[in-house]
Amino acid sequence: MTIHIGAEKGEIAETVLMPGDPYRAKWAAETFLQDARLVNNVRGMLGFTGTWKGNPVSIQGSGMGMPSLSIYANELIRDFGAKTLIRIGSCGGMQDSVGIRDVILAMTSTTLSTPSRGILKELNFAPCADWGLLQAAAQAAAAKGTPTHIGGIYSSDVFYDERPDLNEQMVRHGILGVEMEAAELYILAARHNCRALAVLTVSDHLLTGEALPSSERESSFGDMVEIALQAAFP
Ligand code: HPA
Repeated sequence: MTIHIGAEKGEIAETVLMPGDPYRAKWAAETFLQDARLVNNVRGMLGFTGTWKGNPVSIQGSGMGMPSLSIYANELIRDFGAKTLIRIGSCGGMQDSVGIRDVILAMTSTTLSTPSRGILKELNFAPCADWGLLQAAAQAAAAKGTPTHIGGIYSSDVFYDERPDLNEQMVRHGILGVEMEAAELYILAARHNCRALAVLTVSDHLLTGEALPSSERESSFGDMVEIALQAAFP
C-alpha cells in the first residue's frame, strides 16, 4: 500500500492504463478486461486489475493535471513495479485536419512546466513516447480503421486558459491537441526506464468549438482503449 494506492504489492500489473477519470477506469475495466477486480479506491481514484487476452493489466485513474498524474505514476512505478504506462484520455483538437472522435497518438508533448521542472531546471527536456508502443499503437489503429493522427501534443496546466496566445503558438507549430497529463508521464517514464504512451480521443475542438455529446463518449473512447491494449500486447 502507498499513500494514494490501497492495493497490496503484487495486485498491480506491470502494464497500467491510466485514464484521468476514475469512472472511465471502471468502465474500461468492466468492458475490456476479464476477471477485473477493484484494487484501489483511496479518494475514489479507482484502480482495477484483470487480464486482457491472458495478459495482466491494471487500469488506474490518474486524476486531472500533471501534479495528480505524477502522484499515481510515481507510486505505480516506484512502489508497484509498473513498467508500461499508457495514458488513455481526451484532448482538445488544435488543427483543422483533426476531427472530433479522432484518435491522437502523442509522439511528443510540449509544456510550459511540469512537476519535474524542479529537477530539470533550465533544461527544456523533450518528453517523447516509447517508440515500440507508438509503432504498435499506430498499427493497431490502422488495422481498426480509426482515423488517427500521430505527432506532437500540448500538455497544459490550465483548462480555462486566459492566455489564448499560447494556444495560437501551439496551433502555428503544428501541435495536434491539448490535454493536461502526458508530458509528466513521459518524463517519469524516461527517468525510471519505463515505457509510456498517450492515446487520446478528441472530445472537443479549440478551433471549431465542437464537442462530443456525452451520449457518444463511451463508444468513441472504446477504440482508444483497444488501441492501447493492442499496443501493450501486439
Ligand atoms: N484543454 C485541456 N485539456 C483538455 C481539453 C482542452 O480543451 N479537452 C480535453 N482535455
